[in-house]
Amino acid sequence: MQIQNIPSLTRRDFLRASAAAAAGLAMPSLFAAGRRGRMIGPNEEIGFAVVGFRGQGGSHINSLTKLREAGQKVRIVALCDVDAEVLARGVKQFADRGQPVKGYRDLRALLEDPAVDALSIATPNHWHALATIWACQAGKDVYVEKPVSHNVWEGRQMVRAARKYNRIVQTGTQSRSSRQGIAAAVEWVRAGNLGKIRVARGICYKRRDSIGKVDGPQPIPPEIDYDLWCGPAPKDPLMRKRLHYDWHWVWPTGNGDLGNQGIHEMDVARWFLGVTELSPRVFAVGGRLGYVDDGTTPNTMVIYHDYPGTPLIFEVRGLPTAKGAKDMDRYRGVQIGIVIECEGGYVAVPDYNSATAYDWSGKEIRKWAGSESHHGNFIQAVRSRKVADLHADILEGHLSSALCHTGNISYRLGRQLPPELIRDQIAGDSGALEACERAYEHLLANGVDLNATPATLGVVLTLDPKTERFTNHRLANHLLTRAYRKPFVVPEKV
Ligand SMILES: NC(=O)c1ccc[n+]([C@@H]2O[C@H](COP(=O)([O-])OP(=O)(O)OC[C@H]3O[C@@H](n4cnc5c(N)ncnc54)[C@H](O)[C@@H]3O)[C@@H](O)[C@H]2O)c1
Repeated sequence: MQIQNIPSLTRRDFLRASAAAAAGLAMPSLFAAGRRGRMIGPNEEIGFAVVGFRGQGGSHINSLTKLREAGQKVRIVALCDVDAEVLARGVKQFADRGQPVKGYRDLRALLEDPAVDALSIATPNHWHALATIWACQAGKDVYVEKPVSHNVWEGRQMVRAARKYNRIVQTGTQSRSSRQGIAAAVEWVRAGNLGKIRVARGICYKRRDSIGKVDGPQPIPPEIDYDLWCGPAPKDPLMRKRLHYDWHWVWPTGNGDLGNQGIHEMDVARWFLGVTELSPRVFAVGGRLGYVDDGTTPNTMVIYHDYPGTPLIFEVRGLPTAKGAKDMDRYRGVQIGIVIECEGGYVAVPDYNSATAYDWSGKEIRKWAGSESHHGNFIQAVRSRKVADLHADILEGHLSSALCHTGNISYRLGRQLPPELIRDQIAGDSGALEACERAYEHLLANGVDLNATPATLGVVLTLDPKTERFTNHRLANHLLTRAYRKPFVVPEKV
């Protein structure tokens, strides 16, 4: 087994980086000059590396393996994970199958490997942008998990890098590959078959329990290279029980459930609306309610994206139907999905591969179902070199991820208020008020007293979609990016 710990920076890269650091500049990119990707002949294999595979990366390995078994010329040639146990287990599994792969702990060493044509990235969110940008600069194509970014600015930088280096970059929003299902429903609605869309709703009612509460810094598991795990995020003491996965629920690494499960539904809701820019006005109401733990992201939220004429209203609920219950709420039958309400009826999308249209009496009008392999679509575009062949180009991923981020920014800058005051403040946006009233009822059923533990009313932010910057709040603009920890800096100039 070959595990490489040491990034193979060239002496020139190192000197350049040190000089930049000494001058107080952000570290230049590792592959600043850019490298051309290998030209892959039609009968040649595409060499894949799966990066971060404790959880979702395992699904990437499965789908790539299935595609190979179905005759596609693809091969996993390398695995990368900063957790030595995860890495050793993965490398051994491949060796046991007689398909040896290289193992890397440091992504930078992997990017030097000429056998790797494409990366399939399933690290935590705070690594997605930098890993993708470095990969583009190194001449690799990328399949990157959702949310593609941890903040708005770095998402736009990913789009720039993909275009500058002519790379194929697919977002891991697999609903986009539901061509016979969701894509067909989108087309049908957008052709006006149900009349004008009144409101697009994203629904994310997914159970999220307390992650526990520690009373001091926790030991870093010895198998983790914590410096690499933190990457662009601050290397702070670990203040939660579990390093893996629960990073979703703290701001330095995660984006809450809005940017976790919710990005899937945000993306499909925006797809139905057909909007290709950020909303010009956004606010959120929410809180981490019903328990006290080490998480800081809200478990309950309403986000109002004020697109002219047709709002996109998003709801997150992490608590069950009532205290002690197992079930989760539903909205028009949907627990995790999308509801597109139109003049002549509505379309419900209850999963990643189907949609059903109903008239307002509740009678089913039409149904769509079917999906293709999202990795399969990526591979097709890697061969054709056409961005237009992608079902979920990085630009789509950036826009939908950013809609989660701007909602979160509104929330993070808000303040806790009693429910009556929140009602008064949002009364002008009736759709937001209605969604909040339902959220209040849901919280009440869970025994949450909003006068004792108030929800937060986020600030109402206005945004210029052309610049993707807020026009009414300086602090909010700071939250569009982050202070990157050297040398893990997303470059200003990709
Ligand atoms: N598309 C989907 O349906 C779907 C489903 C689940 C998760 N996801 C996404 O996949 C990503 C991973 O989620 P998860 O649940 O597997 O998280 P996880 O914390 O369980 O696993 C992440 C893995 O990445 C490794 N890692 C961390 N930093 C790394 C680095 N710099 N280089 C290499 N490896 C690194 C960790 O050691 C760990 O093994 C998230 O962004 C999540 O949103 C997508």
